[in-house]
Amino acid sequence: MNSQVIIVGAGAAGLMCAISAAQNGKQVMVLDHANKAGKKILMSGGGRCNFTNMFTEPDNYLSENEHFCKSALSRYTQWDFMAMVDKHGIPYHEKTLGQLFCDNKSSDILNMLLTECEQAGVEIRLDHAIEAVEKVEDHFELIVNGQPATCESLVIATGGLSIPTLGATGFGYDLARQFGLKVLDTSAGLVPFTITDQLKNWCTELSGTAIDCVVSCNGQSFKEAFLFTHRGLSGPAMLQISSYWKPGDSITINLLPNESALDWLQQAQADRPNTELKTLLADQFTKKVAALMCQDWFESRALKTYNEPQLKDIARQLEAWVVTPSGTEGYRTAEVTLGGVDTDEVSSKTFEAKKVPGLYFIGEVLDVTGHLGGFNFQWAWASGYCCGQAL
Ligand code: FDA
Repeated sequence: MNSQVIIVGAGAAGLMCAISAAQNGKQVMVLDHANKAGKKILMSGGGRCNFTNMFTEPDNYLSENEHFCKSALSRYTQWDFMAMVDKHGIPYHEKTLGQLFCDNKSSDILNMLLTECEQAGVEIRLDHAIEAVEKVEDHFELIVNGQPATCESLVIATGGLSIPTLGATGFGYDLARQFGLKVLDTSAGLVPFTITDQLKNWCTELSGTAIDCVVSCNGQSFKEAFLFTHRGLSGPAMLQISSYWKPGDSITINLLPNESALDWLQQAQADRPNTELKTLLADQFTKKVAALMCQDWFESRALKTYNEPQLKDIARQLEAWVVTPSGTEGYRTAEVTLGGVDTDEVSSKTFEAKKVPGLYFIGEVLDVTGHLGGFNFQWAWASGYCCGQAL
């Protein structure tokens, strides 16, 4: 098993890198221990793959080095990927906030990548586990399924730790450490929160209820919907903010993201003085939500009976509800892994390890994590493409 280039990981980044390198005239072999390529692509976006975001910017990424992602994102943009999707006649639509989803199935995207690989002459070997890697002079020697393999360039595209049942392993981190590269602590990102305190009762009672909000934590805010679940809080707003949350932190939820709570309460008091607070809240939220608010937060009376300080207190609670999650659901359900191979170890132009010529890291294995909304795939495409061009 010899190839000029071996790419470990037939996921989003690995396949894109293979296409780019092979189109650039390289002989490319992709190895994956899973029995199928691109399992996360197939699972993504609820089966419709949110494959990029029209508003992709470096600000949509978390990394110790916020500048690292800029070069690749500007050299292979969302428009470049959309051009490939268009070339294959794949129908898609913008769902919201620039998020592009397939009209049909995620397999449209995976099939496109596999077709491109085939046309470029990429060899993909599944069910291939890498047992050992060594650098010998100017090439790499691997043991794969008990057999020796060699390559001049070795690309690690093994992703993060999220969802082990989809083939995720810490292989990329272990290999980086083996070659003396720094790996930053990892944690689950884009992940639901678990709740175990008195709020658990709300989660059980309101499971399935979604509310628009602005959620904030550690200086970052997102305006999206959140969802109560039996185990805690989920939905886009919570997944987004989870990437900024550390154990023990509180999050602040504004339940009236589109207006001033005090203006709303004062207007209602003027328009409907005899209406009970609970009825007003039920109009805005739901009956069940209003009932819990009036059980745990407010005394419900006719609106005309509240003085201004009391209305201000109600407004403050609605605009700055402080919740302290007990934890997250972890890698079992997380969409991404925060942290990973330190970007200081890698060139932002070529993705080659500065200390180990010939060794490359791309995609989620690096300490670059996107927001929810197609940004993680765009990072996989961009880093994969740019690395492939440099091989
Ligand atoms: P990826 O995880 O795609 O691929 C890694 C590959 O390496 C896998 O094929 C794996 O089997 C292989 N591998 C791992 N260890 C190995 C080993 N030891 N030996 C050999 N092979 C090994 N993002 C987005 O932008 N839009 C979306 O809609 C979604 N939706 C979504 C849903 C779900 C359920 C998850 C879990 C994630 C998403 N994401 C997403 C995130 C997105 O899937 C993720 O960021 C990219 O797939 C990362 O691409 P990589 O190629 O880096 O890793």
